[in-house]
Order: sequence, then structure tokens, then C-alpha cells
Amino acid sequence: MRIFSGIQPTGRKHLGNLLGAIDQYVAGQDRGEALYCIVDLHATTVPYDPVELRERTLDTAALLIAAGLDPERCIFFRQGDVREHTELCWLLCSVTAWGDLNRMHQFKEKAGSERDLVSAGLFLYPVLQAADVLAYRADEVPVGDDQRQHIELMRDIAERFNARFGETLVVPEHRIPAIGARIMDLQHPDRKMSTTGGSEQGTVYVLEEPAAILKKFRSAVTDSGSEVRRGEGKEGIGNLIEIYAAVTGDDHEAVETRFAEARYGDFKTAVAEAVTERLAPIRERYAELRPDEATLEAALKLGAERATEIAAPTLADVRAAMGVGPVGS
Ligand code: TRP
Repeated sequence: MRIFSGIQPTGRKHLGNLLGAIDQYVAGQDRGEALYCIVDLHATTVPYDPVELRERTLDTAALLIAAGLDPERCIFFRQGDVREHTELCWLLCSVTAWGDLNRMHQFKEKAGSERDLVSAGLFLYPVLQAADVLAYRADEVPVGDDQRQHIELMRDIAERFNARFGETLVVPEHRIPAIGARIMDLQHPDRKMSTTGGSEQGTVYVLEEPAAILKKFRSAVTDSGSEVRRGEGKEGIGNLIEIYAAVTGDDHEAVETRFAEARYGDFKTAVAEAVTERLAPIRERYAELRPDEATLEAALKLGAERATEIAAPTLADVRAAMGVGPVGS
């Protein structure tokens, strides 16, 4: 079983990212051969600052290692370090329908909110994402529900390639994390916790200080009732139960029973404490890891070397199947 996922280079990962995506990446290390890639090339498809991109990439590397990714047990690397991704992106363009790219929700949204330049890179974003996964012939892609359309497209691209040029690529499966999709904004429990669509007060960051965490949970939106249980009209409390269950590993019923007599205020404090207990070791490790850029770079370099060993033979097969370059290149 080979697992692949790509992670945007931002150090501002929140609780939804941790409990959904990142925890699943960590678990993937024991389920199979796991590859995780920080997608710096994808980050260049919208306006960005080059110096910041490097910084954010290292922030992300440190954060993921602090949260439990182990560069010895998985292949952890930076996309831009492995040239096979960009080459395969171009080659896959020949089996990608322009009309399909034009229908991508994410493209339409981002293009719509772009003021200056809608880059061709933004349009090709899903083809690069397909190349990321297909270069490794990965079986499984753990990403959020928002990536459904991109995963469908990458499956279509792999199928069309195999039909046109012969069986070469593996058609990967989407694996949606069970929890992350359900972590809601503390101020707007009808919206997912998110750095783009959420509220600052309702978003708890992985690297946040305990005092700030407590403040955010204390001011979480609930309802006019008084019972700590899930139900209609109780989305806010339901979300806090979900978070408490996820960080402690308990099930929802156990949480409801334990807090059956509690007031909302006390429950909010308990959730904040459980979250703090979960995040504190990550924040402490991050503070140790982040300043040591040489060690982070060395870990990413090793990852890129191991990734290249897998991707290069795929590229040789793809070039051969497509008639690109001399025979045996
Ligand atoms: N587009 C993904 C996101 O925004 C990131 C990503 C890039 C990715 N390449 C990938 C995810 C390959 C899975 C597999 O979350």
C-alpha cells in the first residue's frame, strides 16, 4: 500500500487540519509506504512572495515533524526538489481535457477572486497535483472532501493515459479523513474551521498559546439550552463534543455522559484544557525544530532523494510509452 499526500506550505495549520489531515498522515506511516510532499510549486500559482515561500515551507516541515511525521518512517520532501513532478505535469497535459480543467470549482473560485493575473499555473494546478500522485504510482490519497474533484480528475487522467499509451499508471483512490471535515469554526458552527473561509476568533491554530486557546473556547458560540449533548440546534456544543472526543480519543457518548451535569462554561474550559494538552508538546517541539534550518533542509533533501528513486522509473516508463526521447532514455 503506497500513500501520497500534498500539503500547502503554510505554518498556520489549525485544529481541523491536525485532527483531520495531519493525524491521518501520521497514522499512514504505519499502514504502508507513505510519501508526504510540501507543495511549494502549487503555491506559485497565486500571488506570493519568494522569501516568504521558503520560510513557510520550513514552517510547515517543522510543524509536521513536531506533530509526528518521522522522516525516517515516511518519505517527506519538498515538491520543487523533485523535477519529475514538473516533467510529468507537462506530459499528462496531453491526456487532460481543457474542458475538464475549466470546470474545476477551485480554479473558478480562485480565478474569480484574483485581481491582477489569473495565471496559466492556476489553470494547470490540478494536472500538477495529478503528477504528484501518479509519479509514485500511489494507491491512496488522504485529503479533504474539498479535493474530491481534483482526485476524480487525476483518476480520469491516469485512466486516459493507460487507455491511450498502454497500462503504465496506477489509478489512485481518495481517502477522506473521518474527523477533520467535521471540525467547525467556534464562532460559526455551520462553517468548517478554515484559514480562508472561517473567522479568526473561531479558528484555533496548532501553535497557539494556551491563554489564547482558552479565550477562543470560552467565547465559542453555543445555544440557549444547558445540556452538553449533540442535537438539532446544538451545532456549537456538538462541535465542542467532537473536538473533545477527537483530542482525547474518547467516543461522543462517553463525553456526553461525563459532562451530563456540567455547565456550558465548565465544559468549554475542559475542552480548552484537553486541546492545550494535545497541542502543547507540538508547540514545544516546533520551537526546538524550527530554528535549526540546516537539519530541516537535510531531512527534506534525504526525502527528495528517496522520492526521486521512485519517481524516476515512472517517468522513464511514461516517456517510453509516449515516444518522447530516444529509445531507452
Ligand atoms: N491541492 C491540495 C490541497 O490544497 C494539495 C495537494 C497538492 C495535494 N498536490 C497534492 C493533495 C497531491 C494530495 C495529493 O490540499
